[in-house]
Amino acid sequence: MDVRTVDHPLAKARLTVMRDARTDNATFRAALHELTVMLIYEAMREAPVRTERIHTPVARTEGYWLANPPLLVPVLRAGLGMADQAHKLIPDAQMGFVGLARNEETLQPTPYMESLPSSLAGRPVFVLDPMLATGGSMEYTIRLLTDRGATDVTAVCALAAPEGIEHLAASGLPVRLVTASVDERLNDSGFIVPGLGDAGDRQYGAV
Ligand code: PRP
Repeated sequence: MDVRTVDHPLAKARLTVMRDARTDNATFRAALHELTVMLIYEAMREAPVRTERIHTPVARTEGYWLANPPLLVPVLRAGLGMADQAHKLIPDAQMGFVGLARNEETLQPTPYMESLPSSLAGRPVFVLDPMLATGGSMEYTIRLLTDRGATDVTAVCALAAPEGIEHLAASGLPVRLVTASVDERLNDSGFIVPGLGDAGDRQYGAV
């Protein structure tokens, strides 16, 4: 599986704010917003463009437009904190939604919401979720997408665990990963180590 790590001082600094247990909810959300810009920037690096001659006030030149903007799919709750920033960078993108809560004992995703276009053939899809831990939630989401014909899926995650990457690679699903860090491991509770805790709770409060 193609894994691209955004290795940049600005990304590291935002991620450090998110990791720090002293960071309050509002500051965490702000850091995730800013990190999302960097992750989407990298995820769009090879996006196809169409060209068209335009006029500047001074001369004619080549203009560039996104040829096939991705469908953005935040995974609720935590992925909501990435949605607006991704949408600002790709204003022509459509957005779908998937709601999952991971069972704290079994670590299996429990779906509670889905709103997706019926056909995704020929459309790139970006799944937005700050955390790739066991990979169960991402696998579940990608299967919803491939069932609708998607063949080009990018998981955009602030953090990933090696276990989650292996899980996705073994699934054989058509996915690549863009992340700011591949951390050390999962602990016995399924949390990423060193990680940042629970990205949903840290943005919106514990439920
Ligand atoms: C977290 C996270 C991912 C999932 C990752 O969400 O945002 O969706 O867990 O874990 P996995 O890779 O082991 O499946 P959670 O279920 O805690 O819900 P929340 O976003 O509502 O906090």
